[in-house]
Amino acid sequence: MSDAYLQLDKLTLAYGDTVAVKDLDLSIAKGELVALLGPSGCGKTTTMRAIAGLLNPASGRINLDGAEITRVSANRRAVGLVFQSYALFPHLTVYENVAFGLRLKRLRGQDLDGKVNAGLKSVGLAKFSGRKPGELSGGQQQRVALARSMVMEPKVLLLDEPLSNLDARLRLEMRAELQRVQKETGVTMIFVTHDQAEALALADRIIVMLNGGIEQIGTPEDIYNKPVSSFVADFVGFENIFALKDGKLATPNGPVALSAAAPDDAAGLAWRPRAVILGSGPFQGTVRGTSFAGNSREYLLDSALGPIKAEVDAALPQHKLGSTIAFDLPVAVSASLKRFG
Ligand SMILES: Nc1ncnc2c1ncn2[C@@H]1O[C@H](COP(=O)(O)OP(=O)(O)O)[C@@H](O)[C@H]1O
Ligand SMILES: [Mg+2]
Repeated sequence: MSDAYLQLDKLTLAYGDTVAVKDLDLSIAKGELVALLGPSGCGKTTTMRAIAGLLNPASGRINLDGAEITRVSANRRAVGLVFQSYALFPHLTVYENVAFGLRLKRLRGQDLDGKVNAGLKSVGLAKFSGRKPGELSGGQQQRVALARSMVMEPKVLLLDEPLSNLDARLRLEMRAELQRVQKETGVTMIFVTHDQAEALALADRIIVMLNGGIEQIGTPEDIYNKPVSSFVADFVGFENIFALKDGKLATPNGPVALSAAAPDDAAGLAWRPRAVILGSGPFQGTVRGTSFAGNSREYLLDSALGPIKAEVDAALPQHKLGSTIAFDLPVAVSASLKRFG
């Protein structure tokens, strides 16, 4: 990609003999907010550490802003890293925590003061500059950690699960905050998460990782609507996922024909609970479970295709437990999976 600002070329990362990331290729444009999404152990932190310069690649290259940085030491590559644990200095004030890295760069006087105050203001903490970290909430501490990295004006800011220690409400608030800071400053940001909702809500682009490699790259809409594999489909909430064999659904009870032809290149098809048609169609299901979810009602059906999860408008008449209803899995609204298993 010609507009790559950060580029990873065939990056392989290992701990001793254990290869954690293999042949990773990745291009990120300047000013992008990219989410690195994947289950625990897939290599997200390892990749961040290599970009930050905390782990030497076994092979491959890293380029940033037109220069190779593969072997450049961490403190010389203008990459910021914010972790899930804030790692603030407990004995220093908020102001001094944010000033710390700037002082190491020999900034003094008004230059220092201006940057620290601007940094604190950008995360809404100007009022708290005299407090110690212990006198702040978790969310506020994470803001200090963010400001501390931002004032160093990194070319790339890496955030490794920065919100996972916060409660649900704060997490939502911080998400919006991160997005705002990123858009205002235009800093290139890679945000690591194992939470698909967080990735979908925040990112310009999502990179889904699995087993030390990239499974799919796309916009949130792509990832949500067009997962390329059964793994991604499952990860982003498709509940009805089937392999295809000779154009038929492979089910626990053998092949089942569909009412329309599946795309030629599909290895599988997947439907979100929302996409299942209840009340009509060629299939029959017995209601094994039902749950009310506010605007919608979810049903678990037993069928010849195996268990089916459907979700319909809660205003529709309720189907009783044990009743048998017709349903359809329309090919037209399925996600077509290129890879299965
Ligand atoms: N210091 C280490 N020594 C040996 N193996 C490690 C070390 N850190 C991580 N790993 C292994 O590397 C793989 C990727 O880990 P990591 O990058 O931390 O995953 P993630 O951040 O996606 O949860 C895992 O299998 C993990 O067990
Ligand atoms: Mg990790």
